[in-house]
Amino acid sequence: MGTLHIIDHPLIQSKLTRMRDARTDNETFRRLLDELTALMVYEITRDYPLREIELTTPLEQTTGRVLDARVVLVPILRAGTGMLGGVLDLIPMARIGHVGLYRDPDTLQPVEYYCKLPPNLEDARIILVDPMLATGGSAIAAAALIKSRGGRHIQFLCLVSSPEGVAAFSSAHPDVPIYSAALDRELNPKGYILPGLGDAGDRIFGT
Ligand code: PRP
Ligand code: URA
Repeated sequence: MGTLHIIDHPLIQSKLTRMRDARTDNETFRRLLDELTALMVYEITRDYPLREIELTTPLEQTTGRVLDARVVLVPILRAGTGMLGGVLDLIPMARIGHVGLYRDPDTLQPVEYYCKLPPNLEDARIILVDPMLATGGSAIAAAALIKSRGGRHIQFLCLVSSPEGVAAFSSAHPDVPIYSAALDRELNPKGYILPGLGDAGDRIFGT
């Protein structure tokens, strides 16, 4: 599991605990997801490149540094869209692609139903987001789609991962680091993460 990074920040962990709690309502769940995603994005963008620019403060001329990266954010529909706001709060200029995948409830295999990605992915910093890494099928397929369109610098950001999902994803995409707030115990026979937080899409959208 060489590419897994657990972001063990106290604020992230306490928000995740509230999200796991079955008593947390949809509105609070969405707000916590926004906040938690923003905190995680702050951590995973530490190595983004900067360039110098000239500017004038109210007192004098100086140089400052600004982000020098084209950022592309790719949520996996549907639950990944719940993480859009948290990333865009910090990187409002990010372009957004969408990959639509759902898990067949019987086979647990991902089924692709939509893919629209921005052009020129080759030099972009791509953040693939989905709250859950369970069997890994959805994230593996999404990363493969991004690579097939030329994407190279991909980071996968999730909230809760399973040992099975991390192993499968790392073996399919050893070049893509996984950033997760937690590595949970196991999957149940229906492919749900234990202890997990339930069905992320249902909890975000109230379905
Ligand atoms: C959930 C979740 C991931 C996927 C993870 O989506 O948001 O995309 O399952 O499972 P996996 O690692 O086993 O592929 P789901 O298929 O329930 O669709 P939804 O987001 O539309 O609810
Ligand atoms: N998808 C979810 O939303 N939750 C899980 O536990 C597994 C897959």
